[in-house]
Amino acid sequence: MPEKILIAYASRQGATKEIAEALAAAVREEGVEADVRPAGTVADVSLYAGVVVGAPLYAGNLLKDMPKFVERHAKALKAKPVAAFVSGSSLGDPGPDDIRNANKALEGVKSRVDLLDVAYFGGRFDPGRIPVVGFFVRLGGRDRVKDNRNWERIRTWGRGLPAVLGIPAAA
Ligand SMILES: Cc1cc2nc3c(=O)[nH]c(=O)nc-3n(C[C@H](O)[C@H](O)[C@H](O)COP(=O)(O)O)c2cc1C
Repeated sequence: MPEKILIAYASRQGATKEIAEALAAAVREEGVEADVRPAGTVADVSLYAGVVVGAPLYAGNLLKDMPKFVERHAKALKAKPVAAFVSGSSLGDPGPDDIRNANKALEGVKSRVDLLDVAYFGGRFDPGRIPVVGFFVRLGGRDRVKDNRNWERIRTWGRGLPAVLGIPAAA
């Protein structure tokens, strides 16, 4: 069976899910199979040769399904190549403080697994999608979506993942 990469993500409003899907498409362009799954739904990582975990920042913390996934599968993940990405409004064009904050949010994950690489991507802030708040935002006509995801950067990192994780393309 060809070796496969798992991309396990947490996402509340869908922006990080789309990043995970774009990463999987980029991995496949390199001739390596990739599955994309919500981190909370993954029961078994043993099928995978490498794993990528990703989550957005909410109030300075990683959306918890991702760190919980790492905690749940820590033993199995220790024996595999793992990389991570973090997304957030502050990470579109991040300064040193933004990177420091993102790394702080990743501390729990890093204490459990060794990360071969970490990427930081912008997010999509969509006030209209926040329950309750969204209703009033729409009512006030201020439904301004701020999307600072850079698809070229996301695709470039995705294409590099098989090499980073040491997974060869199927012949
Ligand atoms: C309530 C709330 C809190 C947020 N807190 C942060 C934050 O601390 N740092 C940051 O960079 N982005 C923050 N964001 C932006 C999200 O990380 C960004 O919108 C992300 O793309 C959402 O991902 P999702 O659609 O997969 O849930 C916040 C967004 C909301 C709605």
